[in-house]
Amino acid sequence: MTATLIDGKAFAASLREQVGELAGAFEARAGRKAGLAVVLVGEDPASQVYVASKAKQTVACGMASFEHRLPQDTSQDALIALVDRLNADPAVDGILVQLPLPGHLDEQAVVARISPDKDVDGLTPTSTGRLALGLPGLVPCTPLGSLMLLKDQLGSLSGLDAVVIGRSILVGKPMAQLLLAENCTVTIAHSRTKDLPDVVRRADIVVAAVGRPEMVKASWLKPGATVIDVGINRLPPEPGAEKGKLVGDVDFAEARAVAGAITPVPGGVGPMTIAVLLRNSLVAAYRNEG
Ligand code: GUN
Repeated sequence: MTATLIDGKAFAASLREQVGELAGAFEARAGRKAGLAVVLVGEDPASQVYVASKAKQTVACGMASFEHRLPQDTSQDALIALVDRLNADPAVDGILVQLPLPGHLDEQAVVARISPDKDVDGLTPTSTGRLALGLPGLVPCTPLGSLMLLKDQLGSLSGLDAVVIGRSILVGKPMAQLLLAENCTVTIAHSRTKDLPDVVRRADIVVAAVGRPEMVKASWLKPGATVIDVGINRLPPEPGAEKGKLVGDVDFAEARAVAGAITPVPGGVGPMTIAVLLRNSLVAAYRNEG
């Protein structure tokens, strides 16, 4: 069997197109553009690339982008003061503080300071609690994008066995909540899980979000399983090459012979994250405008 490739790039492009149309309608109604503020502290190269891409796609969708780049040695008080200003700014509908923050900053306290009405990352205690309670709210972008791909591929997920590998606040935990809400039987596996290959082999749906290159092998998969690979890992460069190859958490070359459907890396989940961020920003704008 050769797995169907799940084209996150095309899905994200059509989602951005829908967001663009709704952003135009919002501007006509509110007399201003929906606005997304992104805060980046420090010089982390990967974060710089993500933030630049977020800003570019925000503007391309007809929304206003407010970028705040702060130096590495920014104090906790200064960062909290910026979040407070953005919370109070009526031109800002969504606030995203790019993670990870430099080690001297208290990430949890900063995120918790974001107004839940502007929490387009879905990471505040209020958003997390609403998701766990099954109440409407803003949902983290990568898991929501992954769920959209799964539902597009499989239709109803009800009754399916899902294994989420990874228990992060950004992906693993909210992904498990979303799958549970779709009536999956959900297992969260992690670095201390015993017999991980056996656990994964039970799954109709595998979501890999561990950040370990090509860790999930074809022999771990139930034939026909749907595989969502959230990992983006850069391998060391081959001799003579400037940059290493980007690979996921799944050994794609061998897994595609066993899986029923699989997301490639790049071009799978990655493009969905920003598209969902733009969608969440517009949802927040409509809600905040009343
Ligand atoms: N760093 C990597 N992914 C994300 C994300 O989705 N949101 C935030 N805030 N930081 C990230």
